[in-house]
Amino acid sequence: MSANKGAAVSALDFHRTTYADAAMLSDWAMLPVDQWPDEWFTYNEKSFPRLERVQLQVPEAPPSGLGREWLARRASSRTALDQMSLAALSQVLWYTTHSDPPEEYAPGSWHRPYPSAGGRLGCEFYVIARTVEGLAPGVYSYGTARHELHRLRPAATEPMLRFVFGDGWVTKTCALLVITLSMDRLETKYGERGYRYGLIEAGAASQTVSLVAGAASIGSCVLGGFADVPLGQLLFCTPESEVPVATIAFSLIEEER
Ligand SMILES: Cc1cc2nc3c(=O)[nH]c(=O)nc-3n(C[C@H](O)[C@H](O)[C@H](O)COP(=O)(O)O)c2cc1C
Repeated sequence: MSANKGAAVSALDFHRTTYADAAMLSDWAMLPVDQWPDEWFTYNEKSFPRLERVQLQVPEAPPSGLGREWLARRASSRTALDQMSLAALSQVLWYTTHSDPPEEYAPGSWHRPYPSAGGRLGCEFYVIARTVEGLAPGVYSYGTARHELHRLRPAATEPMLRFVFGDGWVTKTCALLVITLSMDRLETKYGERGYRYGLIEAGAASQTVSLVAGAASIGSCVLGGFADVPLGQLLFCTPESEVPVATIAFSLIEEER
C-alpha cells in the first residue's frame, strides 16, 4: 500500500528546493558569531508547569560497558587532521557497515550497526581522500559487500573542495566520508515516505561513523553545510535517483572537553 497522500511535491522536489550552494555556504561561514541574530542562540525547551514532575538524579558516571569511551568522544571536533592511515579508514568503514565479526560475515547480509527502515539499506558511502597513508588521493565509492574502495576520480583539488564545502578547515583535513541515499531502494517499498526513512537512517549511520572513528581516536564532525549539486557531481550520483545527505569530516580528536 502506498504511503503517498497526493503530495503536492515529490520528496525529490522538496530535496531540491532546499539545496545549498557555494554562495550560501560562504554567507553562513562569513557571519562572525558576535553578529549572529539572537534567535540562533535561543533554545526553547518545552515545559509542562502544571503537570506532576519526577526529578531524576544526575548520574555520577557514564555506564561502564563497552560504549563508555564512545560516549566520552561523541562531540564534534573541528580541527583538520593531517593524516589518517588506510587501516584506520578501513576500520571505520567496516565497523560502520558490518555487524558480524569479519570471519562470520556473509556478503549480502543486511544487518548493520545502524537501523534501516525495512532493511532497505538506503545509504551509500563515499570517501574523499586527501592524505590517507597507503591510499592514492581521490574520490572513492565504498563497496560494502566486498569491503572495497572503487576510485571514481583522482584527487579532489582544494579549490574543488572549497566550492563544495566552503572556505574553512574541512578542505584541509585528511578525509571525508559522504553518505548518499539511494532513492530507488527506499521508494521501492515506501514510496515518497522512503525519503524520510532515508534521512533517519543517514543520521544513525553518521552517528555510527563518529562512534567508530572516536573508538579509533579519530575525531569527526557531521556536516550538512555542502553545496548539493557539485557534491553530487563529484560522486557521479544520478540526481534523479541518488542524493548526498550528510558528510562526516574526520578531524583531530579533542581530548579535553
Ligand atoms: C544535520 C547536521 C548538520 C551539521 N552541519 C554542520 C556543518 O556544516 N558544519 C559544522 O561545523 N558543524 C555542523 N554540524 C555539527 C553541529 O554544529 C554540532 O553538532 C553542534 O554545534 C553541537 O556541537 P557538538 O557536537 O560539538 O556538541 C552539523 C550537525 C548536524 C546534526
